[in-house]
Amino acid sequence: MKAIRIHGRGGPEQLIYEEVPKPSPKRGEALVEVMAAGVTPTELSWSSAYATRDEAELPAIPGHEFSGIVEAVGPDATDVKVGQAVYALTDFWRDGSDAEYIVIAASDLASKPRTLDFNQAAAIPLSALTAWQGLFDYGMLAPGQKVLIHGAAGGVGSFAVQLANWRGAHVIGTASAPISRFSARSEHTRPSTIRPFVLKMWFMTSMSC
Ligand SMILES: NC(=O)c1ccc[n+]([C@@H]2O[C@H](COP(=O)([O-])OP(=O)(O)OC[C@H]3O[C@@H](n4cnc5c(N)ncnc54)[C@H](OP(=O)(O)O)[C@@H]3O)[C@@H](O)[C@H]2O)c1
Repeated sequence: MKAIRIHGRGGPEQLIYEEVPKPSPKRGEALVEVMAAGVTPTELSWSSAYATRDEAELPAIPGHEFSGIVEAVGPDATDVKVGQAVYALTDFWRDGSDAEYIVIAASDLASKPRTLDFNQAAAIPLSALTAWQGLFDYGMLAPGQKVLIHGAAGGVGSFAVQLANWRGAHVIGTASAPISRFSARSEHTRPSTIRPFVLKMWFMTSMSC
């Protein structure tokens, strides 16, 4: 199969599009034909881009959010079926999705939403997970609480606005971009930037000290 592989520490100059062996699914794994893969700009600065959990490993295939169609499953891989449209955030410590095929733990796959095409689905996992962790795992956001979301028009922010609204919170967002498509989800989306807000907060904090 064709894949993009990274051959040494560095930036995009280390990436080579080349022929590599097609992987086979082992117990509990699935082989997925990749239809679309997301690109994370900072990924080549992560340790996991150059190693497995146990040892350094190069060359390695980057890319960790993707959508595709299940082509084969290994023994005991009962979470998905051949032909199923799926999407996932993959384990950062193994070969990723910038390839024609990827092998992944079947339990890491979810059905692709019917309302999204493959490109759209591949762009969801990392941004949405980041928003979820910030709001719920760390922020413990509860229904009825107020939440301020800066960068509400960004990749993470646009999921945060929707998830907070879904949780039943009172959502306030800031964005410099056109705000009309966010106004339905955020009760108060302000056409401002972080800088004036932070200055104002700094001033208020200084005055109260
Ligand atoms: N995307 C991911 O999967 C992911 C995962 C983990 C961590 N992160 C981190 O989360 C942060 C946001 O990532 P993202 O992917 O959402 O980025 P993004 O799509 O580029 O969105 C960032 C938003 O920040 C706003 N912004 C930029 N400069 C600003 C300034 N000077 N003042 C006020 N607002 C400003 C922009 O708002 P306007 O559009 O309104 O101008 C933009 O929409 C980054 O620090 C990133 O490293 C992202």
